[in-house]
Amino acid sequence: MLVLGIETSCDESSAALVRDGTRLVSGVVSSQVDLHAAYGGVVPEIAARAHVESILPVVQQALAPVDELPDLIAVTAGPGLVGSLVVGVCTARALAWAWDVPLVAVNHVEAHIRAPVLEGCPMEYPLMALVVSGGHTLLAEVKGPDRMEIVGETLDDALGEAYDKVARQLGLGYPGGPVIDRLAESGDPHAIAFPRPMMNSGDFNFSLSGLKTSVIRYVKQKEDRGEPVSREDVAASFQAAALEPVVTKTVAAAVERGCSRVLTGGGVACNRALRAMLARACDSRGLELFCPGPELCTDNAAMVASLGFFLYRGGHRSGIDLDVCPNLKPWQRAGEDG
Ligand code: KG4
Ligand code: ZN
Repeated sequence: MLVLGIETSCDESSAALVRDGTRLVSGVVSSQVDLHAAYGGVVPEIAARAHVESILPVVQQALAPVDELPDLIAVTAGPGLVGSLVVGVCTARALAWAWDVPLVAVNHVEAHIRAPVLEGCPMEYPLMALVVSGGHTLLAEVKGPDRMEIVGETLDDALGEAYDKVARQLGLGYPGGPVIDRLAESGDPHAIAFPRPMMNSGDFNFSLSGLKTSVIRYVKQKEDRGEPVSREDVAASFQAAALEPVVTKTVAAAVERGCSRVLTGGGVACNRALRAMLARACDSRGLELFCPGPELCTDNAAMVASLGFFLYRGGHRSGIDLDVCPNLKPWQRAGEDG
């Protein structure tokens, strides 16, 4: 079965063709990063307009390698920015109607969790999934093809949001995550003793806003006193403080829930320090780790098409009147017919 996936939940317009849920045929991502960089973050109105301009060319490019129409359309219905989601959902509805093919709504967070299946990760349950992006930071126990339980989440900022805000303070531009990742490689992670938030909270939740404030205060104080600030050391020390609780709790949650496999997803899962720390921690506990390649970690339509296939096979369907669900919770399904 050939599935066309459409993803427009934030600032990436993406379309992809996936066969039988696991084989990527084509994937196109049009990023709006340059449009938002001047504002230091995503501007919803600009994002929606840019999706309107790019979505049809992106879909056309994704369809180009095949001579057949898709058998199913899968689209992200939430969570995300309402104006951005509307563009993807309306495009999917129009194409499903024009081609007379079924439509299935996909939850963006669940798509991140299940993306590793596209790189051969066996979906044998239970699995422990870590999603770390600009909008989400959570741990979910995946219990079955359409069952999962959130075991921990951030109580304030998402991890990617903390990276972006710290980067802004350091004058590193937007998005800050990849720049901090690079700078940290030549910095000393022990140079500054930033707090490890909720490290010993006894649960699997996270908090990042206090750490972000500590970093911003440290940089400001140094600047006010006219002292030099090593951006490399700040980046490395911030990363160490932010990632240690995430890695420790991910592994602890996997062990407590009897999961032998850990999956990661979301833009921050591209981070090299996080990948290295997780690999070491999983290895020491005999856990198998699946970190997909960067193009499957950041927002993409391949993960949407893949999850759409498995949902459809499990009997899930959406009507042609499918609406967007900007505040969809990670475990919720968007509007369905059956
Ligand atoms: O998953 P994603 O593309 O979009 C959301 O759903 O949010 O994630 C974007 C986030 C941004 O905050 C960006 O700074 C962060 O992922 N990010 C990184 C890296 N690459 C992207 N953070 C840390 N290290 C990276 N290498
Ligand atoms: Zn995302």
